[in-house]
Amino acid sequence: MTARIIDGKALSDTVRAEVAERVKALRAQNIHPGLAVVLVGEDPASQVYVRNKAAACEKAGLHSRVIRMGQDSTEAELLDVVQQLNEDPSIHGILVQLPLPGHMNAAKVIEAISAEKDVDGFHISNAGLLMTGKPLFRPCTPYGVMRMLESENVPIRGAEAVVVGASNIVGKPMAMLLLAAGATVTLCNSKTRDLGAQTRRADILVVATGKPGMITADMIKPGAVVIDVGINRLEDGRLVGDVDFEGAREVAGAITPVPGGVGPMTIAMLLVNTVEAAERSAARQQQPL
Ligand code: GUN
Repeated sequence: MTARIIDGKALSDTVRAEVAERVKALRAQNIHPGLAVVLVGEDPASQVYVRNKAAACEKAGLHSRVIRMGQDSTEAELLDVVQQLNEDPSIHGILVQLPLPGHMNAAKVIEAISAEKDVDGFHISNAGLLMTGKPLFRPCTPYGVMRMLESENVPIRGAEAVVVGASNIVGKPMAMLLLAAGATVTLCNSKTRDLGAQTRRADILVVATGKPGMITADMIKPGAVVIDVGINRLEDGRLVGDVDFEGAREVAGAITPVPGGVGPMTIAMLLVNTVEAAERSAARQQQPL
């Protein structure tokens, strides 16, 4: 069997078009959804991500503000910027690009973002809301994966879902979203014994480890849906995921490519979260005092 390829680029175009419609409706009420992205330092990958996020905003009709701060800025300066953005009514979403320089406490900075503007969904109260089944913002990458599964009509209720990688940004929230949708979830980490024994049970396998080619064909159940969150640059310049794509596609039922799979969905869902924030802010304004 050769797996169906799940086209994240095409689906992200659909999601962005939906966002553009919601932005139009908000602008008709004189609300212009705005995203602020704060970039500290010169990390080349972060520069590219931030540029792409700002460009995607403009294309969907949102306004974006990029705030660049020097590598040697202090944590207090960054906290000041976050506070100003919290109080700025033209900004509905705030994203502080990670990683931050080593002299800053990323957790402290994230907790300083207003939970109502935390479009990454990383704030501790948003993590707690997600865990208790009442999410305000869903972290963009897992949110994008759920949207992919939905658009592919993948049955989730009662399915065996295995998530490899237990980060706060992807693995843990991914497990929570799959659980909320009715899957039986196994969350694996770097200490998991006999990883293959776990992954071979998966109807839905989500891999987010940052280790190129870690999941090979023999670790995949025939017909499984394989979602590869990894984006790894090899020495020869090629971009590959965490799954050995050529081998896996002969076993899986459906699989996401890298590039062109989960990556484009992450940015699309950031736009969705920003519009959700603006819609909630509009609803609050319309409530009688
Ligand atoms: N760095 C890499 N991915 C992300 C992300 O999703 N959000 C933020 N804020 N920083 C990142």
